[in-house]
Amino acid sequence: MQSLRLIGTMLILLVGFSLASAQLKSQEQRALPTQVPKHDAILVGTAWYPEQWPESRWEQDLKLMEVANIKVVRIAEFSWSRLEPLEGHYDLDWLERAVAAAAKHHIVSVLGTPTATPPAWLTQKYPEILREEPDGRRVTHGNRAHASSTSPLYREYCRKIAGEMAKRFGHNPEVAGWQIDNEYGYALMSYDDATQKKFQEWLKSKYRTLEILNALWTTAYWSETYDNWNEIPIPVGGHNPGLQLEWKRFVTDAWNDYQMNQIAVIRKYADARQFITGNLMGFFDGFDHYVITEPLTFASWDDYVGSGHLDPDFNGLAHDLTRGFKRENFWVMETQPGAVNWAGINNFLNKGEVRAMAWQAIAHGADEIGYWQWRSALNGQEQYHGTLLGADGTPVPIYKEVSQIGQEFSKAQEAFRGTTVRSQVALLYSYDSHWAIQFQKHTQKYDDIAMLKSYYRALRKLSQSVDVISAKASLDGYKLVVAPNLNVLPKDVAENLLNYVRNGGHLVLGPRSGLKDEHNELLVQRQPGYLMAALGGRVEQYYALEKDFSVSGEWGTGQASVWAEQLNALNPGTQVLMRYGKNNGWLDDQPAVISRAYGKGKITYIGTILDEKLMKTAAEWMVKESGVGPAFASVPDGIEVSVRSGPGKSAFVLINFAPESQNVDFGKRMKMLLSDRQGESVELAPYGVEVLQAP
Ligand code: GLA
Repeated sequence: MQSLRLIGTMLILLVGFSLASAQLKSQEQRALPTQVPKHDAILVGTAWYPEQWPESRWEQDLKLMEVANIKVVRIAEFSWSRLEPLEGHYDLDWLERAVAAAAKHHIVSVLGTPTATPPAWLTQKYPEILREEPDGRRVTHGNRAHASSTSPLYREYCRKIAGEMAKRFGHNPEVAGWQIDNEYGYALMSYDDATQKKFQEWLKSKYRTLEILNALWTTAYWSETYDNWNEIPIPVGGHNPGLQLEWKRFVTDAWNDYQMNQIAVIRKYADARQFITGNLMGFFDGFDHYVITEPLTFASWDDYVGSGHLDPDFNGLAHDLTRGFKRENFWVMETQPGAVNWAGINNFLNKGEVRAMAWQAIAHGADEIGYWQWRSALNGQEQYHGTLLGADGTPVPIYKEVSQIGQEFSKAQEAFRGTTVRSQVALLYSYDSHWAIQFQKHTQKYDDIAMLKSYYRALRKLSQSVDVISAKASLDGYKLVVAPNLNVLPKDVAENLLNYVRNGGHLVLGPRSGLKDEHNELLVQRQPGYLMAALGGRVEQYYALEKDFSVSGEWGTGQASVWAEQLNALNPGTQVLMRYGKNNGWLDDQPAVISRAYGKGKITYIGTILDEKLMKTAAEWMVKESGVGPAFASVPDGIEVSVRSGPGKSAFVLINFAPESQNVDFGKRMKMLLSDRQGESVELAPYGVEVLQAP
């Protein structure tokens, strides 16, 4: 009996051990979808347009790319008129030759479906596929994003061209993956009758009856009551908030269906190994990116500075937002080789800034950085945009900096294989809340993205790593979750947050939280709605501020601006951390920040917008209360430090965004991968970069 028990125990231990080691192995072997098998883990790429040049020139271009350590080309995304010069006559041979020519130079291809630019024969034959503007005018041919994403006829042509491409390239080992369309037509919609009808049908399938819709949108207000589905307009501004929010969701679904039409046919013919992505645009808010990225293998985005210079906080935030869409590494499909052509002032980035920007992307979880574009088309709308080659086909000065980036990526790439960013702090973002605030800002000064950035900046400085995720995502494992603007807070989302707090998390809410439900309808509870009981407090009244007010308490004394909520601590366990000073009478000495222990965790509500100094002390309090530590070590202001980790390894990226040289102490001996040495500190010049690994 005894020995049987012993054998049993040993068996359990053995099974347990092999399960654990299998788990470890699968973790170790988990290849990231953003890292192309058999290629470097981090890559430099470029947008190349072989269709714009004689084939005899390709070899020279590709040679110059190889010399610059460029290892990816994204091609074909605007080449429909070359791929299908006449209806049904496909010419994909040239593209196959371009892919093969690139491969000879160890350059892998990403194919863009050309659906942002339907050819003239198509728009002439079926002018009804052209988008209609809100004023009823049809857009003309000759630009891009000119087709209606909801047109079944247009989708049919998109499906055919994507299918032909997938049949030809779906098994091509030199094609790493696909990009659907280009920037999803900036989410532009056609305001034609057919789209309006679709919207009405969409509403019908969602609400079932007009009684329900009328009730949830309170259409009794201003005689908006609908007796027939076909009475419901497309909102063009100034409409009912319920209608406006549903339109945004409809637009999201429309673009999702638009991409699914192509994804389905590519998946039908292509190897599973080939990824499918779409090039997004940071904080662009035309649709809900959590929905759009759902069917994609990974997210990618186009990172442009435009006028001025890199704002490392804002850019870092946009990277982290993109990483948070799928909680996965991402690509920077496009970025500027110095300057763009579409901003107010198309200044060139400083020497070294393009390199710092590339490393910042990697540090935040990108695995590819693609420069737009290789060489300017001799004619076409973007003649002045930054490029790597001049019109004469030889390198311009930025080519050298990009070559250096490529060289450094090759050198350091192994340290990044299988690694991503994991943070103790999460910031929550919600398109519903963002839109709801945009529809009714109440004060033109309210900028929810700027607020997100101010929290991000203060928290990231201390924690050195922040995730930006959906309010609906699982919050397990985070020590601190901050939701600066969760204006739309329906019950299921509130429940997600409450569970997090019950299990020991610290949730910090900002102003305007919990005012509305998923229909953009005011909740009948005071703010923060379904979280009021757990907070043990509520908002008595909100005030748009004409001028800054003083505020003081646990975090020091400073200014509250733009928005102030008069809070009330209803529960004896609810602490008042900050109070407003003397100001409009209503807010005099009233609570501005309250906090309460709940379950195993804590909820804190900040009812106003704090100045930078107060935000800093608030963040210090938040990380201390939540037990969040720095991911690396304390570094001087202006140094951005980031960590990417994978099974058994970590890589640290240090970038100096300050205008002067700075010394960074590591507190221990580290390997410096870019300068090939070991030491305990490094001197970084402005825009200087170093990558560290434990020796
Ligand atoms: C966008 C587009 C590119 C190009 C660049 C220019 O991101 O996707 O085709 O027009 O802008 O900055």
